[in-house]
Amino acid sequence: PLSRSLSMTSLSGVLPAWEEDELPVEDLLLFEVAWEVTNKVGGIYTVIQTKARITTDEWGENYYMMGPYFEHNFKTQVEGCEPPNPAIRKAMDSLIHNGCQVHFGRWLIEGSPYVILFDIGSAAWNLDRWKGDLWDTCNIGLPYHDREANDSLILGSLIAWFFKEVSCFLCTIDHLGDKPNIIGHFHEWQAGPGLILARSRKIPMATVFTTHATLLGRYLCAGNVDFYNNLDKFDIDKEAGERQIYHRYCLERAAVHCSHVFTTVSQITAVEANHMLHRKPDVVTPNGLNVKKFSAMHEFQNLHSTNKVRIQEFVRGHFYGHLDFNLDKTLFFFIAGRYEFSNKGADIFLESLSRLNYLLRVHRNDMTVVVFFIMPAKTNNFNVESLKGQAVRKQLWDTAHTVKEKFGKKLYGALLKGQIPDMNSILDRDDFTIMKRAIYATQRHSLPPVTTHNMLEDSTDPILSNVRRIGLFNSRNDRVKIIFHPEFLSSTSPLLPMDYEDFVRGCNLGVFPSYYEPWGYTPGECTVMGIPSVTTNLSGFGCFMEEHISDPAAYGIYIVDRRFRAPEESCNQLTQFMFSFCQQSRRQRIIQRNRTERLSDLLDWRYLGRFYIHARHLALSRAFPDKFKMDPMAPLRGFRYPRPYSVPPSPSASLHSTPHHSDVEDEDDEPYDEDEEAERDRLNIKPPFTIRSILSSTPG
Ligand code: UDP
Ligand code: G6P
Ligand code: GLC
Repeated sequence: PLSRSLSMTSLSGVLPAWEEDELPVEDLLLFEVAWEVTNKVGGIYTVIQTKARITTDEWGENYYMMGPYFEHNFKTQVEGCEPPNPAIRKAMDSLIHNGCQVHFGRWLIEGSPYVILFDIGSAAWNLDRWKGDLWDTCNIGLPYHDREANDSLILGSLIAWFFKEVSCFLCTIDHLGDKPNIIGHFHEWQAGPGLILARSRKIPMATVFTTHATLLGRYLCAGNVDFYNNLDKFDIDKEAGERQIYHRYCLERAAVHCSHVFTTVSQITAVEANHMLHRKPDVVTPNGLNVKKFSAMHEFQNLHSTNKVRIQEFVRGHFYGHLDFNLDKTLFFFIAGRYEFSNKGADIFLESLSRLNYLLRVHRNDMTVVVFFIMPAKTNNFNVESLKGQAVRKQLWDTAHTVKEKFGKKLYGALLKGQIPDMNSILDRDDFTIMKRAIYATQRHSLPPVTTHNMLEDSTDPILSNVRRIGLFNSRNDRVKIIFHPEFLSSTSPLLPMDYEDFVRGCNLGVFPSYYEPWGYTPGECTVMGIPSVTTNLSGFGCFMEEHISDPAAYGIYIVDRRFRAPEESCNQLTQFMFSFCQQSRRQRIIQRNRTERLSDLLDWRYLGRFYIHARHLALSRAFPDKFKMDPMAPLRGFRYPRPYSVPPSPSASLHSTPHHSDVEDEDDEPYDEDEEAERDRLNIKPPFTIRSILSSTPG
């Protein structure tokens, strides 16, 4: 078990008292720098992309995002245009005249922010010189073989150069000290060199550095170290050296210490950063989402239903010849994210699935669980068996359609003559032949495959190795079936043509039992779509929910205790969550989804964006104290979310905070009005928190 030494004073709910003060954005330029601007890798992309709308709403034309240029990303996501601001045009020209390519445009996402993208390849010829500059500035040397670190230096050098040009231009047009001030907000260590160089060159700007993890934390946890019990005991330089990331670690730590304001995404990562990077974050900036509200309450339930049908179609193909389970009594679970096997908790998930399989079998439960692992690994395309499955399904569909047409015509002809046709002869021998051939084609001599792709490292792949160990091979007796899709989802896929959002909507439960997860967007995304999920008390998201909701499980947020329990116990707890979930009736699931969706407001950027505003304000007051003042005690005078009401008794017998199996077996088939049920639920349950009342209340 983990010790309680990881004590964290909860700060993420505290809002600064002055947060209503608006910044004079017309006299400011805000630049946000991240490797993931227009470039999807993981959750940082989601931060940048979803936050764009509230930031452009506030900053309008004075907001710019900066990142690396990749031709494909630019062509597919950006509408090129001329920079409207002369300072930016001038700065770009200066780089371009010196042989470096810089691209400008509007990123085609909500808010359409401006993006400035720097072509790393076009500037790579400067690398040696810039490495020398970095060394001279702060004695950090980068090895030639670390491509990622070298690229981050090229990006950083271009960005610092760009800032220099912008600020020089602004000085030339400055008359009475009224030139706009610059704020640079840098995300994660890859954006660090830009910040370090800009600060060491004394470019007049306010800087914020946000880390979404610490390099060492991620590495140490992935190495199965007992991380949280030893936070204060690691010899960090030695650990970084042994993992050959000392230079990256130095970039990260230098950026942290050079910034005017240092932030991170959760309280748990703030504690970690204090130990790993030796600076306590000034602000915790929790990650939000753009919450879409449908006018009709049941709309998201309909979306669940239609997308579930699409997943069912895929499953029909994948399991052809072995479709001896009832799809109407099949639940879809999934885990998704970058492939960090133990950090993302895929290890305890697999172990729990094997136990769940056992429990479902011994209890003769009639539910089947199909579990998707969506984690990108090295592959060379889809495998034949998976593609064949979808082809066979299509063929059966076509055959059924052809026979149906023929049948229909004959039936119609007979009815026109006032006759009921002889059902025994309405289909002829050829029809039977076609149907038999189609059925014969569904015979297969192997089990439905566990992976959808040919894996390059099949024998050593951690998910596959564990599937082999626990023996979950999609055999007929298994109540838990596994499909490993080692690639992010896309609506253009020939195999499973759905984008991630639609896929999530169609599933029943997202399972994210992470060990290392500074925030963890995936369960939050489930929440705003009204899909229950499993998270942990070691993830930023899980802690945030635990802090603000009194009975998260009642609202479809199952928090596995990975902090105070041994892995074996966490595994049992996860198994129990999933087993209980399988015992819910359809009606209970529907009600639970309604409750889950109601938590969305808590995760909305419209609310959480205020922590970013706070960070920028603080940075300005530190960089330009004469011009931007703030009360140093202000954050202490803040307020918290009210502690939620304890969850009141369930409005109907079918509701339990920890679901119980209903004795009424035919409950699922009862006709009933979903809206009415939702309304009843709404009237009976007070909201778990009251954001709107917070927003309208006067702080202080
Ligand atoms: N994701 C995606 N497509 C997929 C699976 C995941 O776009 O097929 C996204 C998901 O929407 C989420 C991000 O990947 O926003 C993962 O972010 P998270 O914060 O959970 O983890 P990270 O990868 O940053 O550690
Ligand atoms: C939504 C739909 C219902 C459907 C249900 C399936 O609520 O509006 O018509 O029955 O989804 O839910 P399930 O939990 O079984 O996937
Ligand atoms: C990182 C973290 C993840 C977080 C994301 C966005 O990639 O691993 O937990 O959600 O950044 O902040």
